[in-house]
Amino acid sequence: MRLDDQARLVLARNDRGGYTVPAAGLYPYQWNWDSAFAAWGFSTFDIDRAWLELETLFSAQWEDGTVPHIVFHRPDSGYFPGPEVWATNRSPPTSGISQPPVAAILVRQVYEADPAAGRERLAALYPKILAWHRWWRTHRCQSGVAAVTHPWESGRDNSPGWDIGLANVDESSVGAYTRRDTGHVDPSMRPGKRDYDRYLSILHFGRECGWNQEEIIARGPFLMADPATTFILLRANRDLAALARILGEDPVEPERWAADLGAALPLIWNEDLRSYDARDLRTGRFANALGSGAFLAWLAGVDGPGLEERLVAAWDRVRFGIPSSDPDAPGFDARRYWRGPTWPFMNALIAIGLREAGRTAESERLRRETAALIANGGFYEYFDPYDGTPCGGADFTWTAAVWLAWAGRG
Ligand code: DGY
Repeated sequence: MRLDDQARLVLARNDRGGYTVPAAGLYPYQWNWDSAFAAWGFSTFDIDRAWLELETLFSAQWEDGTVPHIVFHRPDSGYFPGPEVWATNRSPPTSGISQPPVAAILVRQVYEADPAAGRERLAALYPKILAWHRWWRTHRCQSGVAAVTHPWESGRDNSPGWDIGLANVDESSVGAYTRRDTGHVDPSMRPGKRDYDRYLSILHFGRECGWNQEEIIARGPFLMADPATTFILLRANRDLAALARILGEDPVEPERWAADLGAALPLIWNEDLRSYDARDLRTGRFANALGSGAFLAWLAGVDGPGLEERLVAAWDRVRFGIPSSDPDAPGFDARRYWRGPTWPFMNALIAIGLREAGRTAESERLRRETAALIANGGFYEYFDPYDGTPCGGADFTWTAAVWLAWAGRG
C-alpha cells in the first residue's frame, strides 16, 4: 500500500468520532496539539473532518479561555493519570493545564487548503482561539515571554531544559501509583520514575488549589520560561491576526501580543549557550540546555546571532532530523523521549520557519530526512536520530498527518 494510503489509514484507525487519539493504547484521549496536527493531515483529503477535529477540541474550552491539554471524552483504564487524578470537575473531564498553542498556525493551513469550505467554520472558531491566546497572555506571559507551569504543558516532558526547574520540586509525598505508559512502550524510551514523581507532585499542587491560576503562578512548584512555546505563541498570534483580517475582524490585539513577545525575547537569550534557552522564573537561572525548541525561532520570524551555526552543528552530528537535545551534552540519550530523539512534527515546524527565512536547502534537507525516517521506520512517535530506529508509540496520528501535509510532499 502507498504511504499516503497508509497514513490515511492511521488517521482513520485513530478516529474516535469527531476527534483522534494520538496513539491507541498509549494516548487514548484527545490531546490538544496532537489534534491540531491531525486537522492539518485531514485537510489534505477531508476538509470537513479537519474542521471537526478542531471544533471538538475547542468544545472543551474552559470559561477562562484555556484549552486543556487532554480531553477525556470516554473512560479508558489504560492511561495514567486519568480524569479522577486531575479532578477538574468538568464535563467532558479534562486535564488542568494547557499545551503549546499551535492551533492558530494549523487552522490557517487548514483554511488555506479550501477557503470556501472553511470561511464559516473559521468565523465560528476565531473568537475561541482569540480567547485562548488571551488566556496565554494573562496567565502565562507575566515575564513577557511564555512560561509553562508543568513540563507536560510544554509537551516536551523530560527535555533537559526542565531539569533545573524539576530539581526544586519536592516529590516526597506523591505516594504509590502505577504508570501505564511503560506498559505500552519500552521504559528506556520514556521519562524516568523520578521525573514522573515530580510531574505528579506538580499536578497535585494544581488540584489542591482547585486549578487556581493566580495561585499556580505565584506559588506553584514549577514555572519556567519556554523558548519553544514562546515562538509558537508568537507565530500563532501573527497567524491569528492574518485570520482576523480575512474575516474582517480587528487584528490589533494578536498583533500587539506578537510584538510584545518579540520585544521580550532577550530574557531567554543565553549568551553563554549562544542560543535561546529555558529559564527558571523562580530563580532566574538558565537551563544551559540546547534544545530543538530554540530552532523554532525562524517559525516566529526571528533569529539569533550564531543560531544557525548551532543548529547545523547539532544536526550534522546525527543522520536524520533535528535532535531534540544537544548530542554533545552529557545527558543526551538518542532514544529516551525528549532527551535526544527527533520528532517529525517538530521537524515540520522548524522546516516551515527555515523555508520562510529563505533557508530553502536546509528546509528541504529536513523534509527529506524526515520522509526517510517515516518511509523506513513507519508512523512512529519519534526516532533515533543516528540510525533511524523507530521509538515510542506506533501508528501515531501526528506522524501520519505530517507525512500527508509535509514530509511526503517531495
Ligand atoms: C504523557 O502522559 O506522557 C503525556 O505526555 C502527558 O501529556
